[in-house]
Amino acid sequence: MNFAGSFPTTRMRRNRRDAWNRALVAENTLSAADLIWPIFLTEGEGQRVEVPSMPGVFRVSPDIAAEHVAEAVALGIPAVALFPYTPMEHRDEDGTGALHPDNLTCRAARAMKAAHPGLGLISDVALDTYTTHGHDGVLRDGQVHNEETVEILCRMALLQAEAGVDVVAPSDMMDGRIGTIRAALDARGLIHTRIMSYAAKYASGFYAPFRDAVGSEIGSGKPVLSDKKTYQMDPANSDEALREVALDIAEGADMVMVKPGLPYLDIVHRVRSTFGVPTFAYHVSGEYSMLMAAVQRGWLNYDRAMMEALMCFKRAGCNGVLTYLAVDAARRLKAG
Ligand code: PBG
Repeated sequence: MNFAGSFPTTRMRRNRRDAWNRALVAENTLSAADLIWPIFLTEGEGQRVEVPSMPGVFRVSPDIAAEHVAEAVALGIPAVALFPYTPMEHRDEDGTGALHPDNLTCRAARAMKAAHPGLGLISDVALDTYTTHGHDGVLRDGQVHNEETVEILCRMALLQAEAGVDVVAPSDMMDGRIGTIRAALDARGLIHTRIMSYAAKYASGFYAPFRDAVGSEIGSGKPVLSDKKTYQMDPANSDEALREVALDIAEGADMVMVKPGLPYLDIVHRVRSTFGVPTFAYHVSGEYSMLMAAVQRGWLNYDRAMMEALMCFKRAGCNGVLTYLAVDAARRLKAG
C-alpha cells in the first residue's frame, strides 16, 4: 500500500464527494446472494405465529412453509435454514423426535423442495429442539454424552438429507461429529449432501430469543446442567476457534460458521484469513431483537442499521450471513 501522499496533495474526502465515486471505490458489496434466512416451524395447519421476543419473525406450519419462502426465492435469497418448534408432547429426555421421518423439519423440507427445487435447504443438526431439558445432546450422569450424541446426530442428518435437505448444519459442538456425519452420509451414498459446520459456536447470552422461538429454554423442572458451557466455546477465546475450524475442515466440513455474529467478527476475520474456506456467520436472535427493540423505540433507523450491520459481516470476511433480516434486506437491496 502507498501511504506516501500527504495533505494537502492527498485529500481522502475527494473520493467520497459523489455517490458515483463512492460506488467506484467501495471495497465490499452486499447482495441477496449473501443471505441465508432462518425459518421457524410449528405444528398445525395454516399457522403463522409471531415470536414474542422477535418482532417480525414468525413460526410457520409445514403446509404453508413453501408459500412463506416464495418471496425470499423471488428476491434471490439462495438458501433457508430450518428450525423446528417441537411441541412439548413430542419431546423426551433423549430427543428421539429428531429421528422421526415425519417431524417438522422433514415435512417442511419435502414441501419446500417440491415447490422450490432451486432453493438451498439447510437443516439444524442438534437435539435441543427435541429434548425436554433443552440441551443439544443426551444427558448421561449429568453431562452431555459426546459419542452417544454423535451417533444420534448421524441418524438425524441421514434422515434430513433423505427428506431433501441439501446442507446439514451441526450446531451441537460435540467433538468429532463432522467426520462421523460425513462418513455416515457417504456410506449411504449421500455424497453430495453438504456439511455447514457450526465450527466456532460460543456459549452466548445472545441466543435467548431463539430459545423462546423454538421453546428450548434449558432445564424444565429437573436438575440439569444449567448452561451449555461444557460444549460451546468460552467467549474469551479466539485461538481455540481456529483449532475448532481446523478440525472441522479436516473432518470434511464444506463450509464453516462462526456464531454469534457482530460481537465475534474478529473470529470471522481470523478464520477467513487463516483458512480461506467458505465462511459464514450467524447474526443471532439476540442481535436481531436488540436492533428491533431500538427501531421500535425510534432510537435507530431500521434500514440504515440493518444494511450497515450486514455489510460489516462482508467486510470482516464472511461469504454469507444467516440473518432474520434476510428478506427485508433483500427487499431493500432490490429497491436500490
Ligand atoms: C441450538 C441452536 C441455537 C441457535 C441455533 N441452533 C441455540 C443454542 O445453542 O442454544 C441459536 C440461533 C439464534 O440465537 O438465532 N442447536
